[in-house]
Amino acid sequence: MRKVGIIGVGEYLPSKILTNADLEKMVDTSDEWITTRSGIKQRRLVAKGEAASDLAIKAAKGALKGARLKPHDLDLIIVATITPDMQFPSVACILQDALSAKDAICFDISAACAGFVYAIVIAQQFIAAGTCKNALVVGVEVLSTITDWQDRNTCVLFGDGAGAAVLAPVKSGGILSGYLGSDGSKKGLLMLPGGGSRNPTSQQTLNKRLHYLKMKGNELFKLAIMTMTKAAQQALKQAGLKCSDLDIIIPHQANVRILMAVAKKLGVSKDKVYMNIEKYGNMSSASTATALCEAVKEGRVKKGDIVLLDAFGAGLVWGACIIEW
Ligand code: ACO
Repeated sequence: MRKVGIIGVGEYLPSKILTNADLEKMVDTSDEWITTRSGIKQRRLVAKGEAASDLAIKAAKGALKGARLKPHDLDLIIVATITPDMQFPSVACILQDALSAKDAICFDISAACAGFVYAIVIAQQFIAAGTCKNALVVGVEVLSTITDWQDRNTCVLFGDGAGAAVLAPVKSGGILSGYLGSDGSKKGLLMLPGGGSRNPTSQQTLNKRLHYLKMKGNELFKLAIMTMTKAAQQALKQAGLKCSDLDIIIPHQANVRILMAVAKKLGVSKDKVYMNIEKYGNMSSASTATALCEAVKEGRVKKGDIVLLDAFGAGLVWGACIIEW
């Protein structure tokens, strides 16, 4: 099996900023509540008419530039998203056309906040098996379109953005392990009930606001800590490493308190946990992707570092991978 590494990263955040002060004017909340309960200060929102593929294209171009590859070098594009432009065709196909990456195999995956980690592990296996050589993986979300802006329990948490990575064969290091898991029995904790084949869009589903995400945040909170800790431990075990070997943890950005609890359970210093939640909120699959990109650009990830990507999300799904950078 070929060794596979990440050779380029990119991101794109829409320019519109929604602060906690702005939210105070929209629902019964306060900057103090949002900051202490989640760690979020502001989030980015798309402009009117801007869709997932518009964000994905910009992040993808950044990752290709970093990888010094051209779109025609790609033979695989995987987009992780729960907010595609439309039900079909996939965002990956729309992206292929926009980039002119005409030889690439394209598909989207639905693994919510763990989507970027899932897509990295899938792409790695395509490359390791020799089916593909160069893969583009994008985590992109426009969660503002499925957020109920009248529901203070959820609307303060989410934001829009995109992050991308290019994967290719490497001579040394690269992805050392990938661990994925799922538990469909917890599907009711976070869902978008309307608009699918179960509840096709109708005046009734709109009246019931079923086209917005529903979340039992408190129940998810404990499961998030448990699953992210377990995923990290399993990925480390597969790689033959210990928590003390980690140079940096790049986690899904759901809540600062969740991340601090995971670090404590793993016995890793809080300084090693990369966070951008304060600026962007929870962007589902785009959170881990943009965090990786920013950590690399800020010099927090250096050659030879042992990096942990760790995420969980609706499904439930969770995943972690260890990368020697
Ligand atoms: N402003 C003020 N008060 C609020 C707000 C708000 N925005 N939202 C809720 N409250 C109130 C509640 O009504 C409740 O009041 P009550 O005690 O009178 O009933 C109180 O604050 C406490 O609510 P909790 O839900 O218990 O608050 P908690 O400390 O659990 O924090 C939070 C809520 C931030 C949602 C947390 O539970 C969390 O982060 N959960 C995990 C979310 C998550 O990880 N989601 C999965 C990933 S997302 C994806 O896959 C797309």
